[in-house]
Amino acid sequence: MSPLAVRNPYDNADDDDARSGEGDDGPSVVDRPLLTEIDHVAIAVHDLGDAIDTYRETFGAVVEHREVVESDGVEEALLRVAESYVQLLTPTSEDSPVAKYLERKGEGVHHIAYRVESCAEALAAVKAQGHAVIDEEPRPGSRGTTVAFIHPKAICGTLIELVEE
Ligand code: CO
Repeated sequence: MSPLAVRNPYDNADDDDARSGEGDDGPSVVDRPLLTEIDHVAIAVHDLGDAIDTYRETFGAVVEHREVVESDGVEEALLRVAESYVQLLTPTSEDSPVAKYLERKGEGVHHIAYRVESCAEALAAVKAQGHAVIDEEPRPGSRGTTVAFIHPKAICGTLIELVEE
């Protein structure tokens, strides 16, 4: 079997060994896909106006929503891409986590946000599997959404946001 075949995520129909701790036909912790869509890819930027101009001039992108989220110390602009968004994100204060991110890493992808049916349910599933989370409970996000962040060290080095619309 080639190395690629071993890693093929679709080739696990009779591969019980790949799922640790499960016997034959045993109940899975998660019995259906919890992530229904990509809600947004968030990109940390120094200057929101400049970043919006760049996306508009380069890609013809249109800002669909803009909001200051005081509790997170950020201002965001959402640019629609099909059913998802690119979220340009800039800090509104020096002690904002995004300000610290820009200081350490510069501009770039900050987090991936996945849509879920129920933020509480998805967060509970993540916690039940022992993954570190940033938000112990769902909380209000922008656009009237309910969100929770999972720690970047928990799952594949990515800061993940769960978004319930
Ligand atoms: Co986000």
